[in-house]
Amino acid sequence: MSKMIRLDKFLAEMGVGTRSEVKLYIKKGYVRVNENTVRTADLRIDTDSDTVTFKDEIVGFVKTEYYMLNKPAGVVSATEDAKDRTVVDLITDRKRKDIFPVGRLDKDTEGLLVLTNDGALAHRLLSPKKHVSKVYYAKISGIVDERDVEVFKKGVVIDETFTAMPANLKILISAEVSEIEVEIFEGKYHQVKRMFEAVGKKVIYLKRLSMGALKLDEKLTTGQYRPLTEEEIESLKNER
Ligand code: URA
Repeated sequence: MSKMIRLDKFLAEMGVGTRSEVKLYIKKGYVRVNENTVRTADLRIDTDSDTVTFKDEIVGFVKTEYYMLNKPAGVVSATEDAKDRTVVDLITDRKRKDIFPVGRLDKDTEGLLVLTNDGALAHRLLSPKKHVSKVYYAKISGIVDERDVEVFKKGVVIDETFTAMPANLKILISAEVSEIEVEIFEGKYHQVKRMFEAVGKKVIYLKRLSMGALKLDEKLTTGQYRPLTEEEIESLKNER
């Protein structure tokens, strides 16, 4: 679908610079549209048929981008931060400057995080009404046993104001340091950590394995990312 858009907006969206920087570049004659140098920032271009160059390099138009990141610990789930590196900083070859993480993982949590500039998709996936499934792998300080599985199945009472929805807890190893997988259907702040705290145990390592139908690609080592495939994007869009 072709889209008419102001030249300065187009260049800013594609990450050439801020709106005021690109206005200056246009004034200086760095920008050509279909081979002609253009000096008017409010010229409307057709993103399908017009060829825009900045300093002789073609600026392609990408409307939406979708990435899967295996988030490393130590990086914050935000678009910018005064002191820490953000998950967006890790997507080094993104085309668009307006991508953001779909939801948050704690700074010390690893694993699956989707980044996109598709606000509608993000909104749907995060909607509390949708109850999109999220599966985490965790190491727990303390012996996790069948009683915990039952409590999780009924819904853990976290405090007077919050009882977690029923969750599926699977014990992989029951020992002083247990290993588990847990599937939850909501995404409150520190949710998994608080659920284990409520049964007297402590999460010492947490990694997200899936979100809805989307599974973390195990070929991605921590810190690596890749674009989502068409099928993966479709499956997220079809999430109930
Ligand atoms: N639950 C948590 O406690 N932390 C996360 O990062 C995600 C889920």
